[in-house]
Amino acid sequence: MTELSFIHRFVPATKPGRPPLLLLHGTGGNEDDLLPLGKIIAPGSALLSPRGKILENGMPRFFRRLAEGVFDEADVRMRANQLADFIGEARAAYELDAPVAVGFSNGANIAAAMLMLRPEVLAGAALLRAMVPLSEPPKADLTGKLVLMISGQLDPIIPTDNAEQLAAQLTAAGALVNHKVLPTGHGLSQQDLSLTQSWLTNV
Ligand code: MLT
Repeated sequence: MTELSFIHRFVPATKPGRPPLLLLHGTGGNEDDLLPLGKIIAPGSALLSPRGKILENGMPRFFRRLAEGVFDEADVRMRANQLADFIGEARAAYELDAPVAVGFSNGANIAAAMLMLRPEVLAGAALLRAMVPLSEPPKADLTGKLVLMISGQLDPIIPTDNAEQLAAQLTAAGALVNHKVLPTGHGLSQQDLSLTQSWLTNV
């Protein structure tokens, strides 16, 4: 494994012409978690899957939180910038185009923060169970950037209006946001996979 600034897994593309996926796990996950999902939703695409550097009671995350749904926003900013730097390193090391982020839960939240802080590093993003990561986001230019958000109507962690607020922030910055709300909870469903798979064919 190449020595880059995040522990990660990289799976090279087997099909040319598709953007790589940046797979971002949820709390307690790791770099292996989303590889099977990546292979299902984007067969043949390169997969880049880092492990979050924060440990919360032994569980990897991408940034610190003070409580469930209450984020240490200074840490969110620092960690989003570190992850954006890692994407640059990985692109150079593996000769990759800008990736499309596919993040779940905490991974979706760091992807949303990166969109606002370092929009140039991502070609687009699928945010599965995301919430607002920054209460006062900087003015980002996301003109034309494709973003899929999939929320769960019954999600006990993320109130629907919070997800709607994130969709509104991204739209106000110029992103083309497709926000779906499924009749499900925080966990991913088969429908998440099929919606993400078909959305990816247009990115
Ligand atoms: C977060 O901390 O990013 C969200 O509360 C989702 C989670 O990871 O539980």
